[in-house]
Amino acid sequence: MSDVPKILKCHQQNFEPYLCAIQIKCCMGEFPDLAFVLESTAKEIHGYILGEMRIKKKQEYGVLTSLAVNKQFREKGYGTKLCNSLFNALVQNYKANMVTVYTSITNELALQFYKNLNFENEGIESEYFSDMKDAYVLKRNLSNFVVTEGVGN
Ligand SMILES: CC(C)(COP(=O)(O)OP(=O)(O)OC[C@H]1O[C@@H](n2cnc3c(N)ncnc32)[C@H](O)[C@@H]1OP(=O)(O)O)[C@@H](O)C(=O)NCCC(=O)NCCS
Repeated sequence: MSDVPKILKCHQQNFEPYLCAIQIKCCMGEFPDLAFVLESTAKEIHGYILGEMRIKKKQEYGVLTSLAVNKQFREKGYGTKLCNSLFNALVQNYKANMVTVYTSITNELALQFYKNLNFENEGIESEYFSDMKDAYVLKRNLSNFVVTEGVGN
């Protein structure tokens, strides 16, 4: 929980912010085992991933709530490692067989990133974000996910 201000800062540096400190606290409070950070030896946070479990029509599934890596640390594999850490925890702790991420339809980089991680585009959810932007609904099957290297939480 002491990381919340640093995670918020990283979020604000990498997005038109759609999360506030209270939302990050709620997510981490409910699912502390689904939050991972990329931290330097100086205890600075250069990336994070937050996840949660949701239920729809009696079906439980994982959600990748938010992910960011600071610009100077991108394209070094950290985003992938953060995702793998979350997927490991979803499978091991919650036996999740599906993970969903909602990404802005204007975020082409993220769309490509998630496609490379075997997410499939299931369509558009209108006005998903707080600024009323539409989101692609991307899903990845975790039933065959093999536990891999990640980063610590
Ligand atoms: C999306 C994001 C988390 C990726 O983080 P990253 O640490 O750069 O990701 P990785 O280094 O693990 O990249 C994995 C793959 O994504 C693709 N990718 C990443 N950055 C890319 C870029 N700038 N252009 C094209 N492809 C890119 C590549 O295919 C890469 O695979 P490769 O290294 O084998 O070529 C990062 O760009 C980011 O924080 N963006 C801003 C916030 C955001 O959009 N978050 C996601 C929406 S929730």
